[in-house]
Amino acid sequence: MIDGRTQLVGVIGWPVEHSLSPAMHNAAFEALGLNWRYVPLPVAPGMVEAAVRGLVALGFRGANVTVPHKQSVMPVLDSTAPEAAAIGAVNTILITRGPDATATVSGYNTDAQGFINALRRGGFEPQGTRVIVVGAGGAARAVVRGLLAAGAVQITVLNRTLERALRLISDLGDPRLTAQELTPESLVTAADGAELLVNTTTVGMWPDVQGSIWPAGVPVPSRLTVFDLVYNPLETSLLRQARKSGAQTIDGLGMLVEQGALAFEIWTGQPAPSEVMRAACEKQLRAGR
Ligand code: ATR
Repeated sequence: MIDGRTQLVGVIGWPVEHSLSPAMHNAAFEALGLNWRYVPLPVAPGMVEAAVRGLVALGFRGANVTVPHKQSVMPVLDSTAPEAAAIGAVNTILITRGPDATATVSGYNTDAQGFINALRRGGFEPQGTRVIVVGAGGAARAVVRGLLAAGAVQITVLNRTLERALRLISDLGDPRLTAQELTPESLVTAADGAELLVNTTTVGMWPDVQGSIWPAGVPVPSRLTVFDLVYNPLETSLLRQARKSGAQTIDGLGMLVEQGALAFEIWTGQPAPSEVMRAACEKQLRAGR
């Protein structure tokens, strides 16, 4: 029941109507018997500063931040966690209040650690491994940052637009990083010398479910683990190619759930029920949203 003591969090983004996060977090609050609610908050481009001030004024405990506000929210914050500063994006804000009701707004990024937690849950330990990351957008930055922190020894970033991959590796500035243009040939060659392949592009996402970064008719090396950040559909064309070739696969829902679980813990200070959260997401996906 919503009453005078209900605590609020939500997601600011544009658009937000297809977000799985409300279902995921509300299921977690319910499972733990917390009088909290998570609401979708559509915030138009250019309105992020007003939105954050509104959250503070309305007594919100925090929020997730999604496209297109992950970078533009940063100047509005009182403090930014080192991880978020390194990635250059914030996906979670926490609002704390002192005894005199003065509020502090802190920014975090749970995507990098969420990715690593999902990878480990999928049975892959990144320490000492060679990795191919396809894509060079915001998601790729978080993935690469997570892999560097987790001890990967070589990370090759392949992107359709080479300059963007070069900018990513120069921003993150680590000798373990190299960049290449994404072509079917460069991908197959690079995958030969790697243990993990991560797709951070939108290729294969509904409604273009036939799309895959991996060329048709070429087997995926069976000793590879393939992680696709796309979770709609849960088994993308890429993951199907990998499974049929005998490679290990990890779907993108794991990262959504793990980044959400970390945000939940930042807000509530309690361990998140990640199994409940995953089940709520799967139910929502099945319902076709
Ligand atoms: P996000 O922040 O979610 O990572 P993004 O910044 O829009 O999203 O990045 C999307 C990524 O998917 C980019 O790496 C993009 O490649 P470009 O930098 O060349 O645009 C990649 N991408 C999107 N559609 C693609 C396609 N059809 N083939 C290959 N890469 C694609």
